[in-house]
Amino acid sequence: MNYYIITFGCQMNHSDSERIASVLEKAKYKKAPKIEGADLIVVNMCSIRRSAVDKVHGVVAKFKKLQTKNYKLKTVLTGCILKKDRKKFAEKFDLIFDIKDLPNWLKSLKNTKNYFKIKPKYQNKFSACIPIMTGCNNFCSYCVVPYTRDREFSRPAKDILNEIRNLIKHGYKEVWLLGQNVNSYKSKIQNPNYSKSNLKSKCQNQKFKIINFAKLLKMVNDIPGDFWIRFTSSHPKDFSAQLINSMAKCEKNTPYLNLPFQSGDDKILKKMNRNYTVKEYKKLIKKIRKKNPDITLSTDIIVGFPGETKKQFENTVKLFKEIKFDMAYISRYSPRPETSALKLKDNVSLREKKKRKEILNNILKKIALEKNKKYIGKIVNVLVEKQKNEFLIGKSRHYKTVKFESNKNLIGKFVKVKITDALSWGLKGKLIQKK
Ligand code: 5AD
Ligand code: SF4
Repeated sequence: MNYYIITFGCQMNHSDSERIASVLEKAKYKKAPKIEGADLIVVNMCSIRRSAVDKVHGVVAKFKKLQTKNYKLKTVLTGCILKKDRKKFAEKFDLIFDIKDLPNWLKSLKNTKNYFKIKPKYQNKFSACIPIMTGCNNFCSYCVVPYTRDREFSRPAKDILNEIRNLIKHGYKEVWLLGQNVNSYKSKIQNPNYSKSNLKSKCQNQKFKIINFAKLLKMVNDIPGDFWIRFTSSHPKDFSAQLINSMAKCEKNTPYLNLPFQSGDDKILKKMNRNYTVKEYKKLIKKIRKKNPDITLSTDIIVGFPGETKKQFENTVKLFKEIKFDMAYISRYSPRPETSALKLKDNVSLREKKKRKEILNNILKKIALEKNKKYIGKIVNVLVEKQKNEFLIGKSRHYKTVKFESNKNLIGKFVKVKITDALSWGLKGKLIQKK
């Protein structure tokens, strides 16, 4: 039996798909190179925007056609699914399951107690996604995640560290610590200094130590080996001074941060239930830059949130220009079922949303180019990801896409590249030497 997985959405979904693949392979399924060769199609969906759900309809149309030729073909839906869509898709798929139920999904895996305990089938041999927590308690008014992924759950630090240690032993060069909101990571670990005696010092009298994200980062950093640490996503309201320090101190942590601001207007931020003001966001960025001066910053922005006036959008433009982000993921507001913003009238026209997005994109292009030009003449470390024609393409420590000519097989390796050109999307350079 052959399986084929189609994944939409964020890195978390991609990471989940690695676990789905592993469950299937344990059950003796083999990966089909193309959808046409599959006996089982798994769709791992995303509900963040309407357009993401529409993509699933496209896949349904495709497998309906395939089912006319292959009567054995079974289809399964998982991922971030809203209640409303679950009913709609129930008729289209043979099975719908929650990702949390993955361990029980295939009966052959009776021993697997916990979803996170499933060893994933990593998509590549040098960069791995490590989920550290899942779910969200924040209930931003536009967002489906608290409904599709439930409340926050942090994975035990011991399991995370073991998984990473094992990957590094096998030559992995990069780990992504993933969660909907990594800053609210919290787990317990047994205190190695715990003593039952009466003469306890402060650090001895607790049986368990609480591990927050700043501490976890430090513990990952302490794992021996030559590798990079990246993490996403972060919420500004939970970004502690301790984490800022930890980021600066951990030499394996890379100078890249995605910190969504969503809107540059306090009233809209309130309606979004984001729990910070523009002033607080700016202050936070200042603190982060003070400790990590050359950090690459990216952000997420939603344009055309219900009631967003031209003036309020101008405030987003102002903040966007002021901070000078290297990258931004700009979305047009999409009303989503079950979210509280659904009650608000989606009164910014599609045309206006498109216009606002274009305005921000044009600013981004200019600023990103300016920022990238600063790398010209510099030598940067790059983790090579892929080959395209005569070029190798990878990411620098600062998460800049770097392209350089080479016919050597360097995929999955660290190399040094001298930057010769800058574009808005990234950098071009010349290979110097293998690290
Ligand atoms: N409409 C538009 N964009 C959204 N996002 C989340 N929900 C919506 C929505 N309903 C965006 C936010 C978030 C990113 C992952 O997707 O900017 O940070
Ligand atoms: Fe969604 Fe807000 Fe949670 Fe991010 S923090 S996943 S935007 S509810």
